Amino acid sequence: MINITQPGDFPLTETWSYMDAANVALMPMIAAREITEWQTDVALNGGINFNDHVEAKAFDGLRLQGARLFNCNQDDIAGGSSCTELLSSIAWAVMPQKHENVVSTDIVFPSTIYPFTRVSHHTGCEIRLARGHNGYASFTGIVKNIDKNTAVVSISHAEYTGGQLHDLAALAEAAHAHGALLIVDATQSAGAIPIDAPASGADVIIAGSYKWLCGPFGAAVMYLAPRLQSKLEPGFVGFRSHKEMWNLSPDRLEYPDTAKRFESSTMAFGCIKGLEKSIEYLADIGIQRIYEHNIALADRLIEGLGGLDIEVVSPVNSSERTSIVTCRVTGFDPVEIVKNLQERNIVVHKRQEFIRFSPHLYNDETDVDRAITELRSILRR
Ligand SMILES: Cc1ncc(COP(=O)(O)O)c(C=O)c1O
Repeated sequence: MINITQPGDFPLTETWSYMDAANVALMPMIAAREITEWQTDVALNGGINFNDHVEAKAFDGLRLQGARLFNCNQDDIAGGSSCTELLSSIAWAVMPQKHENVVSTDIVFPSTIYPFTRVSHHTGCEIRLARGHNGYASFTGIVKNIDKNTAVVSISHAEYTGGQLHDLAALAEAAHAHGALLIVDATQSAGAIPIDAPASGADVIIAGSYKWLCGPFGAAVMYLAPRLQSKLEPGFVGFRSHKEMWNLSPDRLEYPDTAKRFESSTMAFGCIKGLEKSIEYLADIGIQRIYEHNIALADRLIEGLGGLDIEVVSPVNSSERTSIVTCRVTGFDPVEIVKNLQERNIVVHKRQEFIRFSPHLYNDETDVDRAITELRSILRR
C-alpha cells in the first residue's frame, strides 16, 4: 500500500496507530498552523489586518473548498460553528407543522434529529424513528415511515456506530416522491466518502469539521440545494444575515439569495480557515483515493478480526460500508480492551457495547497489523 500522506503531515502517526477518525481525526499540520497564525495575528494586531473587508470575505475560501468537496457551486456553500448549529438553523427554517412528520432512525446520532425534536416541542410535529439493530437501519424500514405528511427525512449519511452508508439518491427519491426534503448529516462521511451533492438529490448536506474532514472543533460546512436558497428563512439570524452585512440598519433584514444567508454571526473565523485548509489538503489528495485507501484498511481489519473469531457488526462487502469497522468482543469488557490498546499506543473507541475502528488516510497496514497482534495478546491473557 502506498502512503498517501507526506512525512510530518500528521506527526503522531510516527509513534501511534491512531484509528479513531469517527471520534476526532488528526489534523494535517498545515491546517493547524493556519489556525494558530490567524489567531496570533488577531492577538497581536486586533482588527488591523482582520478588517471589515476581510471579515466580510471570511467564508470565501471555505466556499471554494466546500464546492470542491461536494462538487457544487460556491454559492451552494455556507460555513458555521458546528454541524448542530447549522442543522438547528435549518430545522427552524423548515419548521414542520403539527400534521407533518420528520423521519429518521433510532440508531442515528442524536444531533441529527434533536434539532427537529426541539421544533416538535414547539409545533407538535411527529418524529418517526425507523427501528435499527446493532447500529444498522434498513432502507426499507426507513422508507416505510415516509408518507404524504412527511416534511423531512433527516439522516446521517454514515451511521456513527457501525458506519452503515445510506444511499442518498434512493432516499432523496423516496423523500421527494412525497414532497419531503432530504437533510443529510455528513459528519461521518465527508472527507472519506466521495459526495456529489447535486447528483445525490439531497436538499441539505452538513458536515462537522473535526472528524473525517480532519479540521478543528468550532467549524462546519453546509451544502444547500439551489432551489432552496431564496426560499428558506434561517432559524438563526444576526448582522451577517443581511445581504450587505456592513450596511448596519436594524430596521430591515433581507437575505442573500445563496446559501450564505445561513451565516449569521461573528465566530472563531480561524477555525473556518483551518477547515478550509484541511478540505484543500484532502481534496488535493483526492477523496476517491482516500476512500479506496481507507476501504483497503477496513478489509484488512475485517480479515484480521475474523482470524481472532471476533464478530464484526458493520456492513461488509457491500455498497453500505465505510472504513468504520465495529465489532463485538464477546466475554470481554470493551472499556478494558480500548484502555489496553491505548497503553500500547493504539487508539480505537468504545461505542455502546462495541469497539469501533475508524482508520483514515494517515493510517497504513502497519497500524492494522499492530492492532490485530496486540488484540490477540490482550484476548489471550
Ligand atoms: C453523525 C454525527 N453528527 C454530528 C456529530 C456531532 O455534532 P457537533 O459537532 O455539532 O456536536 C457527531 C459526533 O459524533 C456525529 O457522529
